This record gives sequence, structure tokens and C-alpha cells, in this order.
Amino acid sequence: MTDRAVKSAARVLVIGGGYSGQRFARAMARDGAQVWLTERGERARATSENGLHWLRFDASQGAIPQLPEQLSHVLITIPPNSNGRDDALEQLLPDLQGQPLDWVGYLSTTGVYGDSSGAWVNESSETRPTLPRSQARLSCEQAWLRSGLPVQSFRLPAIYGPGRCPFEQLRQGKARLVHKKGQQFCRIHVDDIAGSLRHCMAQAPENRPAIVNVSDHMPCPSTETLGFAAHLLGLKLPPYRRFEDIAGELSPMALSFWADNRRVCNRLLTQTLGYQLLYPSYREGFAASLQEEQQGDGSST
Ligand SMILES: NC(=O)c1ccc[n+]([C@@H]2O[C@H](COP(=O)([O-])OP(=O)(O)OC[C@H]3O[C@@H](n4cnc5c(N)ncnc54)[C@H](OP(=O)(O)O)[C@@H]3O)[C@@H](O)[C@H]2O)c1
Repeated sequence: MTDRAVKSAARVLVIGGGYSGQRFARAMARDGAQVWLTERGERARATSENGLHWLRFDASQGAIPQLPEQLSHVLITIPPNSNGRDDALEQLLPDLQGQPLDWVGYLSTTGVYGDSSGAWVNESSETRPTLPRSQARLSCEQAWLRSGLPVQSFRLPAIYGPGRCPFEQLRQGKARLVHKKGQQFCRIHVDDIAGSLRHCMAQAPENRPAIVNVSDHMPCPSTETLGFAAHLLGLKLPPYRRFEDIAGELSPMALSFWADNRRVCNRLLTQTLGYQLLYPSYREGFAASLQEEQQGDGSST
């Protein structure tokens, strides 16, 4: 972090305290910030917990009743709703416009680039989303970028980390070793999302690009990552299957993950902006995730 690093004065709201939101919130709280997170559930955690304050918020139901004042940073992790609209933007924009915000982060997806037949894409590449959910995402991302707030959008590939690696599927014999010729997948460890966000918000506003890809250095086939996960566990791999032979057995959602093929360039983040990845590839990331899982440090945080 630079001298502008966000420290104790920061008042941070995480809209959507899910997997990435909680991890980011905990990192910010460790830096000394005051952090509020939203949740939809009935857990009634509207109290403080490890320096985090929980607020009840369901974007389909209305705005946040008691929005904290003097917020400096906001992270939005809520995806588009089933109609492709951004409930959070529609509900919260007027209230957020009244806050002295220095930075707003929006978690988007690399799905907005569509299919490049395995070629590299960067932030200047044309957005040609093929899947309906990626088309919705692009229009929500653009709406946040047009909102007049100091928004940076972070385009993410598959998110992994403790509790989100293929270990449990392998242990239960439910993992599938599927190969599709030429298919590449990109991914990012959840702590590198939190790290990238904190790195970017610490830059001077004029040095913050509107759109940043947050992806690791090693796009590769999923057979490779599954092979390494099995190696870490000392387990045998399931039988090798060709995508063409099993496509008919896959659900529409599972099939959609194979629809696009692209490699996501992270040069803007790692070279121009100088962020150093904690987990340059799934190799370090899987090993650390397994260790954290074994220490019982939490699948959800
Ligand atoms: N997972 C991936 O591999 C991946 C890849 C690329 C991009 N992304 C995107 O990156 C973002 C973060 O991903 P993640 O895996 O950390 O997501 P996550 O764990 O599902 O967290 C999303 C949060 O948004 C909340 N939320 C959803 N709809 C809401 C609504 N209508 N009102 C209030 N809260 C709502 C969820 O609440 P509940 O817990 O109540 O559902 C959850 O706390 C998401 O937008 C996701 O689509 C994910």
C-alpha cells in the first residue's frame, strides 16, 4: 500500500457481505477501518462482530434504513437480479450521492468480454458478452460507471480460495476431469481480490483506471487445476472425459461455463499499477487454501 493507504479514518460499506465481501471487509478492519456489511438473511447480526458491523439489506425490498454517515469507501458485490437490473444501484444511489465518498469498487466479471477463442483480452478489448448474465452484467457495470460516483470496476474471472477449491468434490468422488481442446480458464484467489481493491483505492484518484482486470498469471485448462488439487490431497483423479462426450449430460448452467474461451491479461493491475499478486497461480493459491481449510479458518470468510 502507498502513503495514501486507507487506514483508521476510513468508513467502509460493503454492499453484499458474501464470500469476497467478507474477505475484503476483514482486511479493511485489520487496517483499522470501520466497516459495515450488508446481509439479507435472518441471522439478525445487526451488531458488531470482530470490528465488523452487520446491516440488514435486501435490494429487492428497499434502501438501507440506517445508512452510516460519512462513508469514505463502498464496495458493491451484488450481481444483477434475475431481470438483469441492478437493484442495489436503483435503491442506494440517492443515499450514496450524499456521502463524501473517495472510492467505490464494483465487482464485475470477465464474462463481459465474451468469447475470444482463447486469445488474450485486456481492458481495451471490445466487450461482446455472449451469455445473457454477462450481457446484464455489462449494462449494470456501465450504469455504475455512469453514476457520477468515483467508481472503479473490477472484472473478475472464477473466484477461488478456502472453501471454494475442488477438494471436497475430489474427496466425495464427485469431481469430473473434463477436457475440451484449447479451452482455457482464468481464476483469482479471493485474497488477491481484497488486495487489488486495497491497492487501487490507495492510488490517487487521477491514477485509478475505471476498469481493472483482476486475474492471476496462469490461465490453463481445468484438467490441470484438478490434477494439482488431487496431487495435494494424494487422491486419484476421476476418469478422463472428453467434453464432446459428456456435454449432453451437463446442466445449462454447467454448459455455460464452457461457452466462452479467453485468457485475461492482468498487465494493467500487475505492471502499470504495480500490484503484486499473493497467489500468481492456482498452485500457490490451492496450497494456501488447503492449509487454511485444514486449520479451520473458514470457508465463508
Ligand atoms: N464466484 C465467482 O467465481 C465469480 C466470478 C466472477 C464474478 N463474480 C461476481 O463477483 C461478485 C462477488 O462474488 P462472490 O462469489 O463473492 O459473491 P457471493 O458470495 O455470492 O456474494 C454476493 C453477495 O451479494 C448479496 N446479494 C445478492 N443479491 C442481493 C440482493 N438482492 N440484495 C442484497 N444482497 C444481495 C448476497 O447475499 P446472500 O448471501 O443473501 O445471497 C451476497 O452477500 C458477485 O457479483 C459475483 O457475481 C463471481
